Amino acid sequence: MTEKPWGGRFSEATDKQVEAFSASIDVDARLYRWDIEGSMAHCRMLARQGIIQKKEADAIVAGLAAIQKEIDAGTFVFDPALEDVHMNIEQALFDRIGPAARKLHTARSRNDQVALDVRLFLRDRTLSVVAGLVALRQRIADFAGAHIDVIMPGYTHLQRAQPVLFAHHLMAYYEMFFRDTQRFAEGLKRINVLPLGSAALAGTPYPIDRAYTAELLGFDAVSANSMDAVSDRDFAIEFTASAAICMMHFSRLAEELVLWSSSEFGFVELSDAVSTGSSIMPQKKNPDVPELVRGKTGRVFGDLMGLLTLMKSLPLCYNRDMQEDKHLLFDAADTLSACLPVCTALFDNMKVNNEAMAQAAARGYLNATDMADYLVGKGVAFRDAHACVGKAVAAAIAKGRELHELTLKELKTFSAAVEADLFDVLAPEKVIERRQAFGGTAKKTVRAAIAAARRQIKKE
Ligand code: ARG
Repeated sequence: MTEKPWGGRFSEATDKQVEAFSASIDVDARLYRWDIEGSMAHCRMLARQGIIQKKEADAIVAGLAAIQKEIDAGTFVFDPALEDVHMNIEQALFDRIGPAARKLHTARSRNDQVALDVRLFLRDRTLSVVAGLVALRQRIADFAGAHIDVIMPGYTHLQRAQPVLFAHHLMAYYEMFFRDTQRFAEGLKRINVLPLGSAALAGTPYPIDRAYTAELLGFDAVSANSMDAVSDRDFAIEFTASAAICMMHFSRLAEELVLWSSSEFGFVELSDAVSTGSSIMPQKKNPDVPELVRGKTGRVFGDLMGLLTLMKSLPLCYNRDMQEDKHLLFDAADTLSACLPVCTALFDNMKVNNEAMAQAAARGYLNATDMADYLVGKGVAFRDAHACVGKAVAAAIAKGRELHELTLKELKTFSAAVEADLFDVLAPEKVIERRQAFGGTAKKTVRAAIAAARRQIKKE
């Protein structure tokens, strides 16, 4: 029987089934790097404060470093009877260095230790997600810049609405991922707070120096209430919420790529590298990668809901329920981290069919609003102009023609204000060119947006 670190007050061994049931090592072993980093800092602080001897601290730090190497190398064997990563490492330390190992846990509890580990994990993960989002935004801005002349239909209700630049449509995603970047960076402020020193819940009577531990670990702040510090998983929920929002953006992009790569749209072609075939239909080339991104989004939403439900109504302070946070948090983090580079790579694997986009933008009366605006310019009230153009569209549909394919004579029957210069207004490029107000789709406005994005990226 493995002796439990908490075995003192127990006279019976843990039920085998309970042991297996309560072990979390399968999930939390991956926290070892941060667990060791946290333990080293804690140990140095203890020695500096004279709570343990310098000699003991040196032995502990060296032992932990050796254990880290062993785990890195894959030769370390985790024992489920030791429940979790914290106790596995502590036991391994004892096996290596003997009694000094028993002093590491002075002024500490697994409750503040696990909170610390998860915070350290999330700090690293947030930084890599932010870097990934910056790279994605760079890719989008470059792709938009390279396709600045491509015109496509803009949609509302998935019905053709007004012509836009493809680059403008892409830069809408840039904005979403910019907000995601900000959200993750903002969350970092609340992740980067040291919980260690809260001990089990009430703080510790030892003369610890939390500010020093925080400094060693690169934390910006120290938690202000020990009971909150060991109960709090807001930072993990916030990260998962940011991940869920970001995945929602990925899923919208993915959905558009699925639509656009269908024969019905034919706007883009995804390369073979990101597509798969069918085992029965020889002609098929399926957009599996964006479909999987779309599908995985649901998992991350589930993780967020799971975390909120897990924490709902838990009394202060630590409850064992909280051990279940890691499945959900890791799944959300890993899914996001898997989707991020894949979504970025999609832009390297996409051929844009300029012709199909332009043709779609030229058919479907996408210039009707501009004809109404033209009439307003000639002194017609907007509501009347709207009605006139509505009638013109109905007539054009009946004739199977576009507005600009009607003759001046035909057009004049809907409003006497129509003159030959109307035809200069109706071309899709002209419709786009007029939308120069900040945030609009005119080429020069979109060019400025791309330039601003590039400047923004340089600052990050
Ligand atoms: N494995 C535990 C978790 O992940 C660590 C904290 C355990 N604390 C305790 N008092 N049992 O939450």
